[in-house]
Order: sequence, then C-alpha cells, then structure tokens
Amino acid sequence: VTTATAPGPHRDGGDLVRRLFEFLDSSPTAYQAAAEATRRLDSAGFRKLDEREAWSLERGAGYYLMRNDSTVVAFTVGTDPVESSGFRIVTAHTDSPSFKVKRGSESAKNGLLRMSVEVYGGPIYSTWLDRELSIAGIVTLAGPDGLRRRLYASAAPTAIIPNAAIHLNREMNKGFAYNPQDHLKPVIAGLTGDHPKLEEWVGKELGVEADSILDYDLYLADRTPASYVGFDRGLIASGRLDNLAMCSAALEALVSSAPTAHTRLAVLFDNEEVGSRTWQGADGALLRDVLERVVIADGAAERESLFRALARSVMLSGDAAHGVHPSYADKHDEHFTPTLNGGPVIKISAGQRYTTVAHTAALFELECRERAVPVQRIIARSDNASGSTVGPVVSSRLGVPSLDIGHPILAMHSLRETGGAKDHPFVVEALRGFYESSREWR
Ligand code: CO
Repeated sequence: VTTATAPGPHRDGGDLVRRLFEFLDSSPTAYQAAAEATRRLDSAGFRKLDEREAWSLERGAGYYLMRNDSTVVAFTVGTDPVESSGFRIVTAHTDSPSFKVKRGSESAKNGLLRMSVEVYGGPIYSTWLDRELSIAGIVTLAGPDGLRRRLYASAAPTAIIPNAAIHLNREMNKGFAYNPQDHLKPVIAGLTGDHPKLEEWVGKELGVEADSILDYDLYLADRTPASYVGFDRGLIASGRLDNLAMCSAALEALVSSAPTAHTRLAVLFDNEEVGSRTWQGADGALLRDVLERVVIADGAAERESLFRALARSVMLSGDAAHGVHPSYADKHDEHFTPTLNGGPVIKISAGQRYTTVAHTAALFELECRERAVPVQRIIARSDNASGSTVGPVVSSRLGVPSLDIGHPILAMHSLRETGGAKDHPFVVEALRGFYESSREWR
C-alpha cells in the first residue's frame, strides 16, 4: 500500500504549488498576469519605477517597471557595483495562445449573437470548443484627466464556441480542420431581440458608462481553476502553464534568493507567442535600455561600464518544455524523453533555436546537482524542427551567454496543459541556484 506523497521535494513544495495555482487562476490574460506579478513584488517590498523619471537605485533593493501593463521587468540591485558584478537574468513570458476579440464585430445569426475573433499565437483549436469561456483583458476609458486603463475579466462564463453535432459531421473524429473565421466564432448571447453591445456589458461590469469605453484589448480565456490530478496528486492541470509556471517560478526565486553581489532580474515579456516584436516584447530595446539605466543609476561614469557589466552577465531563458507523452513517445528522439516530475529540462538545438551551449548547461547542471534538483535534457528528433522562445533574440541582442530550460508539460498550447506537481518546486530551486551562484559563469 502506498500513501499519497506530498508534492515537491522541498519543505515548501506544497506552498509553491498553491501559489502557482493562485497565479494561474488570477491570470486569464497577460494583463492580469502582469498585475499579479506586481502584487507579489509589492508585497515583497519592491518599488515601482517610472520610465519617465530619473532613477536612483539603492544597492540591495528591489524595483520593477511595467510596459503596456503586460510586461514586467523586476530586479534586485546587487550589493557590489554593477559594472564589476554584472547581471543574472531570467526571462519568461506572460502571454499564452488565445483568441482576440475583433472590436465591434458582434452580429446576430439564427437567433444567436456571436463575434469574430483573431487567432493569437498557436492554440490547439479543438480544446477551446464546447467550454464556458470568459472575456478578459484591458479596456481604455475616457476619464476627466485623459485616458485610463482598467483590467477586465468576466467572472461568469460569457462565451462559448459550440462544435457541430456529430450527426452533422460523421467524419469529425477522423480530424476536422477548423477554419477560425467560420467555425470559431464565440456565441456571447442567446436571446433574440435587442442584444447589448460588448461595451455595454463590460461597462456594466466595471461600473462605467459604455460610452466611456473608447477601445479594448480583450481575449477569450478559460477560468477553470488549476488543480492537482491523479491518485497521488502527482500531476497538475491548468490553462497557461506555458508560461505562467515560469513567470511564477522566476518571481518566487527572485524574491526569496539571498542577497548577491550581482544584480538579479526576472523579465516577464508579453508577446512571445506572436514573435516578440513589440515595444514591450523581447525583440526590442526594452531590456537593453533597462540594463543601461541600472548601470547609470548605479553611478557609472562612462558608457564602458555597461559593456563591462554585460561582459560579466549571464541569462537563463525559461519556457515550457515537451515532457514525453506515452501515446506519442515516437515524436521524441528515444534518448531524450524528459518525464513529468523529472525536474527542469535543458533545451538544446544545433540550429541554436535554443541558446544552450555546453558551458552554460554544465554550470546549470552543477548548481542543480548541489541543490538535489534532477535535470533532464531535450534535443528534438533530427527529422523535426524544434520550437523556440525569447532566448535567442534576447541573448543575441544583449551579447550575453544563455541557456534555455523549462518545466516539462504535456499538450503544450492546449487550453488545458498537464504538468508534474514536483517540477515547479524543482524549477524554483534551480532558479535560486542560478541567481545565488557565486561561480563565474563565463
Ligand atoms: Co511558451
């Protein structure tokens, strides 16, 4: 007889998973994820920076800034001058595949009010059908002193994308190619007659006049709470594990790691799922500008200080990894089959779709070994291109060595992804090791 084991190898494993669930449940879109991140940073004593102001930073103190209310750059200034100690950077992304509402596209047909949506990133379409969905994101309001932004997430289900009945398509189970324009329109009301506009519904929920809503960035979202799964509670299921699990892990590690000589950053970018080329995204000036400003605020007299700091820096790009799925194990190279609950996965690609090189992998593995965190590796089948993430673009823009790691999960980009309950505590501990390491990383 076996008894249920507590999730996680570390004393705080269960707490970490509980806080991960809270993070997932309160973050239907990147906007809420960024807001939840800043709540955690606020309660850990981090101070919010305004990019329009001059920065003065204290050694050892924590700071953060936001862009577009969807990207968060958080950091703890090191105890030594930045130019002689450098940066340890962890990146993750706040966005997940979804469907974006096309403003003003509500239209009634056959007694149902529907709207049009654009595909955001690469969702598995079929997982979004026949489920109660919420509408969530951010709205821009006209205020007395200019424009205001307000987060919005419907608490009640407000949309559903119904399938065709099996009787209308007997071939359905042989695979059906959903056309996102024709087949994925969410139904948002079912009463015939005078349908309210989306602005009217959102305005009522926010307690503002519909007329004051000037525009919005709203998405469909599943608000089913994250949960343990399995006889032994060994699995977790949730939407958006990719990549809110890493956002949560980076924040946990940042706020809980011991003071270090070097400056530690957790950078939670929006727009990874659509290529990162936005003002708040990874493929832009944001992070390099922030690093330069930290160096300036640290009292550097010359621009050379930035280059000296970068030359002592290293980065870890964190994004979900493919755990091996027993029904599709042949999709993996047989020698690289990371399992759920087997610990963080180092991602490797000869085409450098991941940033890992032997040197950074070796150092990461060494830190993990000392903390009793198991490490796995993945290299895609040689006849299948691997995915990618923000690692290559950030590492190359900064000129900083890097590696790519992630939580192993199944069904990446499904509305509901499955992970291992132990992996989150493992990843948090691995990131603490990355942040706290006193080893020279280059
Ligand atoms: Co991802």
